[in-house]
Amino acid sequence: MELFLDTAMIDEIKEAWSWGILDGVTTNPTHVAASGKKFYEVLEEICGIVDGPISAEVVGLKAEDMVKEAEDLVKIHKNIVVKIPVIREGIKAMSILSKQGVKINATLNFNASQALLAAKAGAAYISPFVGRLDAINEAGMDLVDKIRTIYDNYGYDTKIIVAAIRHPEHVLQAALIGAEVCTMRFDVMQKLYDHPLTDIGLDMFLKDWEKVPK
Ligand code: E4P
Repeated sequence: MELFLDTAMIDEIKEAWSWGILDGVTTNPTHVAASGKKFYEVLEEICGIVDGPISAEVVGLKAEDMVKEAEDLVKIHKNIVVKIPVIREGIKAMSILSKQGVKINATLNFNASQALLAAKAGAAYISPFVGRLDAINEAGMDLVDKIRTIYDNYGYDTKIIVAAIRHPEHVLQAALIGAEVCTMRFDVMQKLYDHPLTDIGLDMFLKDWEKVPK
């Protein structure tokens, strides 16, 4: 499974990259605003740190505007993936851009029919937002499961990025379903490491090590 960080905070990205398990980064307008930096500058900075797919989102609502934004964004770096919402105009833009070889992350995905359309339009990635579905009492992971089945049934190679992840259990559920990617905030990625018995066990081993004749 590929692990992406869902942020535009440079310190977090540098730190996670140093761990050797980071495969890419997803940003969105909210993350870019929180970084306090200009859009293109922060993307250039991220591309200079992480050697992997970096998602950058368009803000236009018309297909032609999205296409223009995407064509500019991909000039920043070869690793840029253009994030486009799965609305009608977005699917239209995806069809045009995928034929030009632009990699697309179809975002704001909340049902399986949107995911089917994104795959047909040639998106490289689909991003179901599981945590936001859970928050309105719909099982986010059921959507991931449905998308997995549909993509496997028809041999679509669109990769599933499980997004809006709230806790490590989401990551494990996504891995069991067979989603290719999980994108998560820094605090969730940190929690993937943790177990109290690991800390207790390590403490005991180190105490016993002190008793070993040197
Ligand atoms: C995905 O690419 C999105 O940036 C992200 O996962 C949104 O999640 P949120 O609900 O934590 O904002």
